[in-house]
Amino acid sequence: MLESTDYKVADLSLAEAGRHQIRLAEREMPGLMALREEYADAAPLAGARIAGSLHMTVQTAVLIETLTALGAEVRWASCNIFSTQDEAAAAVVVGQGTPAAPSGVPVFAWKGESLEEYWWAADRIFDFADGPTLILDDGGDATMYVLEGAAAEAAGRVPTAGEDDPDERRAFLAQIQTAMTASPGRFTTLAGKIRGVSEETTTGVNRLYRLAEAGRLPFPAINVNDSVTKSKFDNRYGIRHSLPDGLNRATDVLIGGKVAVVVGYGDVGKGAAEALRGQGARVIVTEIDPICALQAAMDGYQVALLPEVAETADIVITTTGNTRVVDVDVLQRLKPGAIVGNVGHFDDEIDLAGLRRLPGVSATEIKPQVHEWTIPVPAEAGLERETTQILVLSEGRLLNLGNATGHPSFVMSASFSNQVLAQIELWTHGEDYTIGVHRLGKDLDELVARLHLPALGARLSELTKDQAEYIGVDVAGPYKPEHYRY
Ligand code: NAI
Repeated sequence: MLESTDYKVADLSLAEAGRHQIRLAEREMPGLMALREEYADAAPLAGARIAGSLHMTVQTAVLIETLTALGAEVRWASCNIFSTQDEAAAAVVVGQGTPAAPSGVPVFAWKGESLEEYWWAADRIFDFADGPTLILDDGGDATMYVLEGAAAEAAGRVPTAGEDDPDERRAFLAQIQTAMTASPGRFTTLAGKIRGVSEETTTGVNRLYRLAEAGRLPFPAINVNDSVTKSKFDNRYGIRHSLPDGLNRATDVLIGGKVAVVVGYGDVGKGAAEALRGQGARVIVTEIDPICALQAAMDGYQVALLPEVAETADIVITTTGNTRVVDVDVLQRLKPGAIVGNVGHFDDEIDLAGLRRLPGVSATEIKPQVHEWTIPVPAEAGLERETTQILVLSEGRLLNLGNATGHPSFVMSASFSNQVLAQIELWTHGEDYTIGVHRLGKDLDELVARLHLPALGARLSELTKDQAEYIGVDVAGPYKPEHYRY
């Protein structure tokens, strides 16, 4: 591990390999490259100091270098302990320099961090000499870190973990304690300097809305996830690509003919189910929302209850952003060889914490991020076996990033174009945004889509003036009302 005062990555000698991958990714990220071209001279992010917490992949490297090309100063950590691509992290640190004399962006990320290291790295992204001005977040960890620390300081108490708190929360609180002790008032100062946050994913956005409702959000937030060109593309088409990629790299099991259960049929679930069906699996969906359940049924999937189909499942994929949707009972019902993985943001969708507490359970590492668990099966389960052995991917964390390299560049270009536009909005027009959670305007959403069409050879038809008047829109857009669902 290479550590200096101002970066920590696995190995700077990987920078050249990372740079080649970044170069290829740039060709597939027309939105980001167009924004660089459009804004390079104006440098709308000059003076902004962005603390970024988002999977440190090759695609994120292109995002980081777009933010710096637009004038920002940036520090970065990953938002998941397994998702960093070490060569991308190295290339971003080296920048235009050399491994001996790096001149890029301070990155604090490597594949396979411990929870303690994860939160240490999260703290480092705020270490600008004059403090950060903006957060770019994925899942809300960086934002929660600052706000919980500031709340603890305001209450004049050092937060401590409760007996039932999971390891994640313990590590989080321990890092807050460390930072509060080392630098009293740190979190209050940070929260006071931050002018806004742009949030990447469904789970982080849900956390922001809850903070805003509770009156605990001190700055404006932009919900990037719900730009149409983010969630209807990255969450769906991205997962359609990266879920089978993760399953293949982890297990190489033939998906065709298998029974695959997709838990949740939101944007991510739709992409997951489509990918598995595309590979020839017989896909079963479980849902709690009648609208999504009806969509799944109309799309031709069996909609069933998880405990009732668990015994027949070869593959179970969680996509809900909810907690313990695959509980210990279900895990015990799975047949030997079944594969279980999660693509929702946090690792508690599959109750591995509960499984670990079960007497007689053991796990064997087959290779990094692939574990075979041996689980006792109680007689009451009525199954003809005393144990089962299942494969758990990425320890229940995002398998498409832990076992593979996440979504491909093209779809991330759309997501990250929204991120860049959100950061520009917050920095240049921040005063126009009230404290609360906002979305980017439809004009910007349509712009992001426009920037990606030529690369796919797509020709966009144009409204005539008469047609525009007839349907009540401007020839140049936006073309749909806010309530339109796509
Ligand atoms: P969504 O809200 O569109 O879909 C989640 C679905 O799960 C909803 O339809 C909900 O009704 C259903 N659900 C909730 N509890 C359930 C339960 N107990 N059983 C069955 N279904 C249940 O959210 P979206 O956008 O699909 O995101 C899902 C998760 O994936 C979030 O945590 C998000 O942050 C994450 N995500 C992961 C990505 C990746 O690369 N792996 C990419 C984008 C999002």
